[in-house]
Amino acid sequence: MNAIELKAPPYPLDALEPHMSKSTFEYHWGKHHKTYVDNLNKQIAGKDWENKELEEIVLASWNNGSPTPEFNNAAQFGSGWAWLNSDKSGKLSISKTPNAVLPVVEGKSPILTCDVWEHAYYIDYQNRRPDFIQTFMDKLINWDMVSQRYAAAQQ
Ligand SMILES: [Fe+2]
Repeated sequence: MNAIELKAPPYPLDALEPHMSKSTFEYHWGKHHKTYVDNLNKQIAGKDWENKELEEIVLASWNNGSPTPEFNNAAQFGSGWAWLNSDKSGKLSISKTPNAVLPVVEGKSPILTCDVWEHAYYIDYQNRRPDFIQTFMDKLINWDMVSQRYAAAQQ
């Protein structure tokens, strides 16, 4: 059994059609995302991190800003993403992150994110990133979940 599991989305892969296709999920989640999970499991096999939660591995491998090789695979899900964050007082901020950096390493709680790397939208939108972002904003955000995360960030 692998230490870190590739978690399936909490809905069928075609649930967001026509706004995001099953094919996008099959490639973005089933191939790109899976590769990072598989590579992280190879890196942590037989080490103390094998029995840790993913967020613990992200924070430990961040290594106070001098990331270890494991950080790239553990946190890569944040590379090129745009974030809406909350701090413990409820103050909101928007950020973007390079090279797998996640808001959690800066002590912020992400409550909404949009992956704007090409693999997140190229099958359905080709080079039309603004169309993807507009559809994301208009059709795909679960605001109830964002509200729940916002409340949790302040506890
Ligand atoms: Fe991505």
